[in-house]
Amino acid sequence: MVSKIICYALNGLDGVPVEVETDVNKGVPQYEMVGLPDTAVKESKERVRSALKNSGLLFPINKITINFAPADLKKEGASFDLAVAISLLKASEQLVGADLNGIVFLGELALGGELRPVSGLLPILISAKGHGYRKFIIPAANAKEASFMGGAEIYPAHSLTEVVKHLVGVEKIPPLQTEEFVVSVRTAGKKSSADLKYVKGQPVARRALEIAVAGGHNLLMVGPPGTGKTMLARCLPTVMPDLTFDEALEITKIHSVAGMLGDEGIVGVRPFRTPHHTATTVSMCGGGNRIVHPGEISLAHGGVLFLDELPEYKRSTLEALRQPLEDGCISVSRAGGTFTYPSRFMLCASMNPCPCGNYGSAERTCSCTASEIRRYRKKVSGPLLDRIDLQVEVDNITYDELTSAEEGESSAAVKERVNGARRIQHARFKDCGINTNAEMGERELSTFCTLSREGDDILRATFEKLHLSARARSRIVKVARTIADLDSSDRILPKHVYEAVSYRIYDKMD
Ligand SMILES: Nc1ncnc2c1ncn2[C@@H]1O[C@H](COP(=O)(O)OP(=O)(O)OP(=O)(O)O)[C@@H](O)[C@H]1O
Ligand SMILES: [Mg+2]
Ligand SMILES: [Zn+2]
Repeated sequence: MVSKIICYALNGLDGVPVEVETDVNKGVPQYEMVGLPDTAVKESKERVRSALKNSGLLFPINKITINFAPADLKKEGASFDLAVAISLLKASEQLVGADLNGIVFLGELALGGELRPVSGLLPILISAKGHGYRKFIIPAANAKEASFMGGAEIYPAHSLTEVVKHLVGVEKIPPLQTEEFVVSVRTAGKKSSADLKYVKGQPVARRALEIAVAGGHNLLMVGPPGTGKTMLARCLPTVMPDLTFDEALEITKIHSVAGMLGDEGIVGVRPFRTPHHTATTVSMCGGGNRIVHPGEISLAHGGVLFLDELPEYKRSTLEALRQPLEDGCISVSRAGGTFTYPSRFMLCASMNPCPCGNYGSAERTCSCTASEIRRYRKKVSGPLLDRIDLQVEVDNITYDELTSAEEGESSAAVKERVNGARRIQHARFKDCGINTNAEMGERELSTFCTLSREGDDILRATFEKLHLSARARSRIVKVARTIADLDSSDRILPKHVYEAVSYRIYDKMD
């Protein structure tokens, strides 16, 4: 007898239907799977066989052929196990009376027959619903993220036995109660212990941080150890505009595919990712041998990628960030397919000014030689630095500043101004397909960023003195546009250009 069961594979953030067709025939006993990569086949075959036996079900001693369609799709992961098991049971007539029509089966099987969670469940459910499916059997451990999928009948099961009992009507699994995704984002978005009000002093860095968020620019903080660089960076998500529901959904999907959704089953706050400097290009950008994972830059999508101690990162890893920084997405290629993941993040980096950390400090003396300093800074790739619009010094603060009882301005107050500047940008770019000043291309630059004669003179002087690149010039103009927006000024005034130029300290340090 032949049976057909539907399950799903992932392609980037989209679910793709896969049909498992099982043929159980009289003949020389064999157990064959076609249409899956070799290693995946071997492992899945074993899991399904053991799971059936250990669940007290019969593993047929017949000629078994299991086919996955479409054959040309790069299928991976273990989420087909349950579908294979059910299809085998159906084909060997062990599910008499069960109506399997239109049910999507998702889940990996443990050898003992327990159902294990699968990654990317939410994106799969969303795609499957779009394809017209309404009934799903899923692993109980995925129930939380599945609960955001309204308008579907979802049955969470702990084991193969539970699924079989449900299907033959011996013991029904209660359907999952769904929650409103929209409401959950609102409540999930409330926690973060970071707040700018706890940061003492550092007015220049605070201002640069505000400009960076307001215009979607990248930020580099240079300063001695223990001056608050990491602390400031952690405040970035607290001043960024609230997530829209579409953003929250997209971010949640990425984290689901990466198997990194927490107990909440949803990402309702902007991500803040801090990959270690030993991170490989694969862990940073995504990829993998057997299973393709989104990398740090995709996990940071919609939020912040913080590279602490920038010169410590491998040059090749930093170089790999250049393309996604321009494109806002990353394509991971491997045999059989290319996956694309979104990766629009704000880059924030920090570093010491020199190996000992004290170069340029008003309080302490630097013990490094000129060549040591040069070598240290050379470690940071020029083209990457060129993409960081705001570079700012964070110096030691005095004891009095640190212990003063006065709180700094709160994140909420800063966010208010950021939102104001964002509103101006939304209105300006409504027909341009972009959201922020940082995303402006040549056309927008020439339309919206005319400089006065005086402003242009300031820029020319800096350009010539610091030997800036053309890219650096347009980046300065974009920052000036953001500063003008924060100032509610239609025109970019000389003072705005002047301030924008002041955030190129790295160029000045050479
Ligand atoms: N400006 C500041 N206001 C209040 N507390 C501060 C400030 N700077 C540093 N601190 C205190 O010092 C701790 C260390 O600061 P932080 O980790 O941000 O320093 P850093 O500049 O990132 O140092 P490093 O270069 O070593 O990474 C903070 O957790 C905080 O308690
Ligand atoms: Mg730090
Ligand atoms: Zn030094």
